[in-house]
Amino acid sequence: MRIAMIGTGYVGLVSGACFADFGHHVTCVDKDAGKIAALHRGEIPIFEPGLDALVANNVKAKRLEFTTELAPAVADADAVFIAVGTPSRRGDGHADLTYVYGAAREIAAALKGFTVVVTKSTVPVGTGDEVERLIHEANPQADVVVASNPEFLREGAAIRDFKFPDRIVVGTSDERGRKVLGDIYRPLSLNQAPLMYTARRTAELIKYAANAFLATKITFINEIADLSEKVGADVQEVARGIGLDNRIGSKFLHAGPGFGGSCFPKDTRALVKIAQDHDVQLRIVEAVLGVNDNRKRAMARKVASLSGGNLRGKTVAVLGLTFKPDTDDMREAPSIPIVTGLLDMGARVRAHDPVGMEQARKELPEIEYCDDPYDCVRGADAMVVVTEWVQYRTLDLERLKAELKQPVVIDLRNIYRPEDMAAHGFAYDSVGRAP
Ligand code: UGA
Repeated sequence: MRIAMIGTGYVGLVSGACFADFGHHVTCVDKDAGKIAALHRGEIPIFEPGLDALVANNVKAKRLEFTTELAPAVADADAVFIAVGTPSRRGDGHADLTYVYGAAREIAAALKGFTVVVTKSTVPVGTGDEVERLIHEANPQADVVVASNPEFLREGAAIRDFKFPDRIVVGTSDERGRKVLGDIYRPLSLNQAPLMYTARRTAELIKYAANAFLATKITFINEIADLSEKVGADVQEVARGIGLDNRIGSKFLHAGPGFGGSCFPKDTRALVKIAQDHDVQLRIVEAVLGVNDNRKRAMARKVASLSGGNLRGKTVAVLGLTFKPDTDDMREAPSIPIVTGLLDMGARVRAHDPVGMEQARKELPEIEYCDDPYDCVRGADAMVVVTEWVQYRTLDLERLKAELKQPVVIDLRNIYRPEDMAAHGFAYDSVGRAP
């Protein structure tokens, strides 16, 4: 199969490299000449474990190419995937479809022979209809099927998620379209991944419903964590106790500082808007958004409360800034409102992150950055773990205690055991576990 992948962001680059690894010929297209030049030099614009080697191997095998020229890539392709960004539109929370529609118009002009155009970007229900209309308007002769094929990969585990998915959703009722996408994904049937064929609008809604459900699960356990603290229960054992019920499942039940990232906040907001446009009120998803937004500032107050109620003039060391480990992505990271909350309460903030500091400087220019976690905590009045990078789990607790001015640790990801912290003489608070 010959594939054109439009957009070399997270989803486009990972999907393109993985499709090439399946043996297809993939041309990744991006308007950003700097990005394409970097990819030609073998530089990967995002931090994703294993992606550099996957790209290098497939470029070497001549199955993966990068270009700024959309037309020839599309003309040659059996399938064209649209994997451009769909950010939140400024002001109203709707998904901004400018890039998707722009790509559709350019694709239309370049199509040759039968082609399946596939939206992989997360797009509101009905976007496929509009893409199809735009293509036919721009090129009435086009022999095209427009399908939806949402992507469910997570940052930091993107390649594994792509190659071992729980399911693949193919949204088109057209048999020719189903055949092409079935052929593209055939290698995954060896991994027993179920290929689910459905209508295009259903596929579009599956993506939003999945993200909103996962965000709801996290928010639910975060509220149970608040209650656990008050009643003297341990939220991690509550999560295990409910998660062992197969109907609930154990994943996405880790209590923490609230969800962030480039998907959950944006997609839950967009889903609420889509529903409102159709006169449906998604009260649960609306509540999830509100609860999650309030949670971040509440985490800053948690720091203040373990530090004697007042942060004025105190130094707080923040470990972990990215929205989750194994990524340099700072989009809607909980660290941003948490650090801002600490600054508003008069604290001085010092921070460390293993890979995210360059991105973090753009979001949080007013704090001090340290290259090493021990340097970060030196002389600080409290240490806060915001992102659960694996290296923070194995920090030497005695050394931490010696470096800190006050042995105060607020662990917003529950990476330490309260009994260990008590044994080392720390004042310690975590999430959903009685201090
Ligand atoms: C999420 C979904 O998990 C993917 O299936 C989806 O494809 C992707 O969005 C997308 O729409 O592109 P991602 O945002 O990369 O993936 O990362 P997650 O691992 O889902 O984490 C999202 C946020 O939830 C993070 O801030 C994380 O710390 C938080 N989280 C996650 C928790 O607080 N508790 C959990 O149990 C799980």
